[in-house]
Order: sequence, then C-alpha cells, then structure tokens
Amino acid sequence: MDDFEVGREFAVQRDETDPLAPLADRFYDPDDEWYMDGNSLGLLSEDAEEALDQAVEEWREQAIRGWTDADPPWFYYGEQLGDRLAPLVGAKPEEVVVANSTTVNIHTLVGTFYDQTEGAKIVVDELDFPTDHYAIRSQLRQRGVDPDEALTVVESKDGRTIEEEDVIDALDDDTAMVFLPSVLYRSGQLLDVERITKAAHEKDVLAGFDLAHSVGVVPHDLSEVGVDFAVWCSYKYLNAGPGAIAGLYVNERHFGETPALAGWWGHEKDTQFEMRTTYTPAQSAGAFQIGTIPILSAAPLAGALEIFEETSIEAIREKSVSLTEYLVFLVDERLDDCEVGTPRDSDRRGGHVAIEHPEAYRVGEALKERGVVVDFRPPNVVRLCPSPLYVGYEDVWEVAEELQEILETREYEAFDTRGDGVT
Ligand SMILES: Cc1ncc(COP(=O)(O)O)c(C=O)c1O
Repeated sequence: MDDFEVGREFAVQRDETDPLAPLADRFYDPDDEWYMDGNSLGLLSEDAEEALDQAVEEWREQAIRGWTDADPPWFYYGEQLGDRLAPLVGAKPEEVVVANSTTVNIHTLVGTFYDQTEGAKIVVDELDFPTDHYAIRSQLRQRGVDPDEALTVVESKDGRTIEEEDVIDALDDDTAMVFLPSVLYRSGQLLDVERITKAAHEKDVLAGFDLAHSVGVVPHDLSEVGVDFAVWCSYKYLNAGPGAIAGLYVNERHFGETPALAGWWGHEKDTQFEMRTTYTPAQSAGAFQIGTIPILSAAPLAGALEIFEETSIEAIREKSVSLTEYLVFLVDERLDDCEVGTPRDSDRRGGHVAIEHPEAYRVGEALKERGVVVDFRPPNVVRLCPSPLYVGYEDVWEVAEELQEILETREYEAFDTRGDGVT
C-alpha cells in the first residue's frame, strides 16, 4: 500500500502530479458527475466522436467507395483495429480482430474449439457473467450434449472469488476446455490467466478467456502465455460506445480452423469477392468475423484507441491500481459499515472495487441522487470503478465523502427497495 492520507489535499496533490490526468479533458462527463461506472459503459471521448463523424462523412461523400477509399478502407477495418488492439492484449497483430458482439464471439470460439473434442467437458466458474454460461450451454445443446453433464462449474468458497487451485483441480482427463473471465464482473477479482493456461495445457486442455473486465485496464500477454482464444467488449474500459463492436484473439497455432459460425466476412480476403460457395478461412483471427463489419459501431473504437496509443497499458494499469488501492484505503478509514469484497492484493484485482453493504441497492440509489454514477449488483454490492483515463484521486475522495454522509445520516432509507426482496 502507498502512503495515502485521508484529507482532500492529498488527493489534489496526487492529481497534480499524475501524468495521465490531462487525458480526462478529452472525455465528456455528463453534468459533471462523478462517473464511477466505466466498467459498464466508458465515457465518450472527443477522439471517439471525431472518428464516428469521420465515418459518417465518408459514408456521405464516398458512399460505396468507402469500402476501398475510406481512411482506413472499411474492407480492412476489422483487421486494422485488430492490429491496434494487439499491444493491449499482448498478441500478434494477425491474432486479433474486431467483430460481432462478445456473446456471439463466445458462441463461435467455444463452438469451434469444442468441435475438436466432442462430448468432453468444459470448465467454467459459478461467478461468471451469465451470458458466458448461456452461450456455452447453447453450443453444447446444439451438439446434442447435455450441458448439465458437460459443464464442470467451479464453486466459490466465499461467494466473491474463485481459487485458481480449484480451477486446476477441476481439470481432468475428460476436460476439453476451460473458459473463464480474466476479472470477475461482480467482485473484481483478477484471475491468474498464465497459471490457469499453463495448467490447462499440461493436461491437453484448451484455455479461453473473457477479457471484458480487463481489456484496456490490465495488460495481458496472450501470445507469450499461449492462451488459445479470448473475447472482450469495447464499451467498458476501451470507451468505444454502447454496444460497440467486440474484439477477439485466436492464437496463431489455430489459424486455418473453420469457425463454428462461419460467414463471408471471415473468408480469405484476397478471394472473398470471387463469391465461391465454399468457404476458405482467412489465415488469421479474421476468420472469426461473420458478416459485414458494422462500421458505425467500429469507428468510435478507432478514435478511442488514439488515447491508449499516447500512453501505455502499463501506465494505465499503474494508475488504476493506485486509484483502487486509494479507494480501499478510504473505505477502511472512513466507512465502518462497508466491506471491501474485492481482493486486497493488487495483483488479484482488476479495475473496479466491490463495496458490500446490506442496503447496497438503496445506497447505490442515494449515490446516484448525489451525482455519483455507480451500479448495483445483487445481492449486496455497489461497484465503484475509477476508470483511470478520466477519473482522478479527488474524484475518488469525493465519492468516499458522499458515501460516508449517506451512511452516517442513513439517507438511503428515503429510497424505495427494489421490490423483489433486494434492499
Ligand atoms: C464478462 C462479460 N462478458 C460479456 C458481457 C456482455 O456481452 P455482450 O457485449 O455480448 O452483451 C459482459 C457485459 O457486461 C461481461 O461483463
């Protein structure tokens, strides 16, 4: 832990010396709120807005010619954004592409790699984001496999975290694949991707990850570690806009596989327009694109990435760790009624902090009323995300101040409960 201090002056000084602080001016912060929800939806930047405007202008001025003449040509847009994302996940440019949504990418990647070992088991964990389970179960059902038999669900001992040791113990001779999040969406625990991948490979098990809560805030080393495949969304820490196009990574040793969900946009580029009815996959992650790239949902990402390219993912992580440590420190010092549900060891924490309180739902409502944008996750968590490109130390201090007042005065009691038993 850093030598944090409880007073506001400390936070002000920290912001003054923070090299990333000037980047916040490039983001729009509605109503000057304290925006602590960047792990759900990142803010719009001027850069993302300009890139979207550019795409609209190219559409207006070039129409169909945009596929070849836009900057970059729309035909290669998915691959080009993949090249730019690769450093953020530690991959080779050709191993990354943007395409589809995260859920669709889970369908196609889990489906593709499961096809190699039909009938075998997939290891997941019980604290996963639900869509991961829905997609995997449906891929199993499509193959006539009973999901209740084929899914091994690693349980949490404390309801917050998953022990890597338990994941490794769950890998047995019948396991084909392990598919886990890098960061748990509720508690913010960061799993050890390298350890799990190495253990999986020792048992001939493929390792895939959902990086939705780590991409853009935690560095990855996917190629070096040898992760088989990964998916992520671009609307959280990457700030590419609501429902923006998602990203995926496939290790180069798997190039040439025919995707479970094949489509013409994943066809080998040079011959795509020969319009053959037989499919030749691109020899890259690009093969996992399906249909025509939605340029208007990809363009903001092109702008958003400019900000990442002016700094480094390591610098972003350093600030993120410092902000979450500071938040944990303030909770410990000032908020007696709350518990921190996120691992205290920074190496085991992603970019957000889960604050637990029996009245978490109403506390969240009271925070929103005061202009602190947070989200609630049942049964008892308020998630606070100091997204490092636009949140500073003084913002974190202010949020702790608001929270302390709400708890001390029991201001949350003025708000309705959710009506389903959740308070
Ligand atoms: C871990 C994780 N995976 C997937 C998703 C959502 O996927 P999609 O963008 O397909 O809705 C989320 C959304 O918050 C998430 O947290």
